[in-house]
Amino acid sequence: MNETIKTILNRRSIRTFLPDQIKESELKEIIGSGLYAPSAMNLQPWHFTVVQNSELIERLNEDIKLSLQGSGNKYLEAMVKREGYHIFHHAPTVIIVSGTDKSNFYQTDCAAATENMLLAAESLGIGACWIGLAAFLFGSQDSQKYIKEMKIPAGFKPLYAIALGYKKDNVAKPPQRREGTVDYIK
Ligand SMILES: Cc1cc2nc3c(=O)[nH]c(=O)nc-3n(C[C@H](O)[C@H](O)[C@H](O)COP(=O)(O)O)c2cc1C
Repeated sequence: MNETIKTILNRRSIRTFLPDQIKESELKEIIGSGLYAPSAMNLQPWHFTVVQNSELIERLNEDIKLSLQGSGNKYLEAMVKREGYHIFHHAPTVIIVSGTDKSNFYQTDCAAATENMLLAAESLGIGACWIGLAAFLFGSQDSQKYIKEMKIPAGFKPLYAIALGYKKDNVAKPPQRREGTVDYIK
């Protein structure tokens, strides 16, 4: 098995992090990998915001939890009410992936960029977790102040977040793959 396939198979969502910040050189390689994702018509309709300000990460955590509490989704409401639940799992770096709907495929392109960054992180031995819950805040009115504070360019909408940091605990085994998800027509 080659190194790329090993990285793909070894990647797991990491939810416990050491407090130490990742190196600038590592961050650059991760971001660079996101920038080289494929995109429909090569529009590259993404913008990445790297947040390493712990005070801002905490405020985002609290406000995302608040927006989830009124979401009407019982599972998510119970989850964020759990003692100590942290949206970004206390990661020292959070990347917000925003997209512009000038491209019809911006969400798909931004998802491809997100996965590239998760795989790049794994290849460097860095833990990462895709944080879709961030979207609950960015769908609300409250998000405008954050969009301004984070200098997200006009016309771009935050879609996903990535929690990033050195892994703290041993990585759990991958969840079972669902059966019957592939057909071959020859
Ligand atoms: C679109 C998307 C959104 C996700 N959102 C969250 C999230 O908000 N919080 C979280 O802890 N994990 C989140 N995950 C991670 C999934 O829970 C995880 O990928 C899944 O359980 C499979 O585990 P694995 O990544 O270790 O293979 C998300 C994954 C995807 C693809």
